[in-house]
Amino acid sequence: MTAELVCFEPKCRARYAITEVIYNCPRCGGLLEADYPGWQPEAALKKTWRERRLSNAALDQSGVWRYREAVPFLDRYEQVVTLREGNTPLLEAARAAAWAGLERLTFKHQGFNPTGSFKDNGMTCGVAQALRLGRPRVACVSTGNTSASMAAYASAAGLQAIVFIPHGNISFGKLAQALEYGARTLQVEANFDQILALVRVLAERLGIYLLNSINPFRIEGQKTIIVEMLDQRDWNPPDWIVLPGGNLGNTSAFGKALRELRQWGLIQKTPRLAVIQAEGAAPFYELWRSRERAALCAVGHPETLATAIKIGNPVSWPKALFEVVSSGGVVEKASEQEIADAKAQIGLCGIGCEPASAATLAGIRKLRAAGVIAAGDDVVAVLTGNLLKDPDYIYGYHTDGLTAPGGEKLRSTYGNRPEVAPNDPDRIAALLE
Ligand code: F0G
Repeated sequence: MTAELVCFEPKCRARYAITEVIYNCPRCGGLLEADYPGWQPEAALKKTWRERRLSNAALDQSGVWRYREAVPFLDRYEQVVTLREGNTPLLEAARAAAWAGLERLTFKHQGFNPTGSFKDNGMTCGVAQALRLGRPRVACVSTGNTSASMAAYASAAGLQAIVFIPHGNISFGKLAQALEYGARTLQVEANFDQILALVRVLAERLGIYLLNSINPFRIEGQKTIIVEMLDQRDWNPPDWIVLPGGNLGNTSAFGKALRELRQWGLIQKTPRLAVIQAEGAAPFYELWRSRERAALCAVGHPETLATAIKIGNPVSWPKALFEVVSSGGVVEKASEQEIADAKAQIGLCGIGCEPASAATLAGIRKLRAAGVIAAGDDVVAVLTGNLLKDPDYIYGYHTDGLTAPGGEKLRSTYGNRPEVAPNDPDRIAALLE
């Protein structure tokens, strides 16, 4: 089995050894992806994957490494560190479906991961590659979830984690995770896009291995979200897969997974990808709407309360654009109010998620209203992060205390205010009657 890195640019397609420490093509600057020339699955692969669910071996218990034949970039697995990532459920959500105008809706909830977000799927692979390359230090810039995940996996693997975050602009839950997992945490007074540029220079200068989603091995791991979802659906692809778009690594990963599964003959139909951005941080949506779709125009000051996707210059846009087009997909945007209300609806299903994840349901509702998605379509929306990631936002919403970045006060449409009760059974009984 050969694994190589290949430049994503169609005009270049230069190839490099899988062990080269590069994040962009040295020849043309394009994005890189892992490629497995000539790889073909064995006939019984789906059965093998299913049977591994019964195994007690660490590798088989991981919802990433159980599908290792779909991410075959390692030559040995002894060094893999797993926290049993993946293994996330598909949850039916009748109430959210009705709210959005669908007959049925299923959430693939990545918030059930060990550190509470989909980043764990990618991070176990990124850290495995860092170990293979013998890099003792790893770094990332993050809106919070990548840093939480990297901190956990680096510590579990005995590596030093260095986390760069936009000062004052990530949720407290995520910052707390990075601290607790033992990462060196630098709060930089700049936004995500500015810090990414800074970290790339520093990684080069200090020989630190970069674990942002520009790292092709993170993308490999995130592919397994799709593989696992299809395995859970007995290999019956949905019509749509809906996900939020920030730095667009996940969109790239999902598209690559679908392309490869189809090429390997494991699925016969490709679901359409629908990527939803927050209105104040929607450069990919603008690119999608432009006539030429030639180059992404960065948003200088991205703004959204969904801080996970507060990104104005998404690095993976060329990959993401290719994947959305290839899947016959669409890009939509949602306002702060739409995201907040959608999030409350997901909560009322007993499911819950963090704000960025709720962009999915907000987007579905708009795409349904516009007739792009039909009422009877089979839709899977990926909830990217756990409800407990950002409790301040939730309390604000339910108590009429959320203000959008532009200063507009958000309505607490489905608010559920806590009540103060006296220490008196009669009066409490009266309240509850
Ligand atoms: N949802 C959540 C909860 C996220 O944390 C992110 C990205 C996204 C969606 C968007 O995914 O970047 O692949 O398009 N969070 C990154 C971070 C940027 O640093 O944690 P994307």
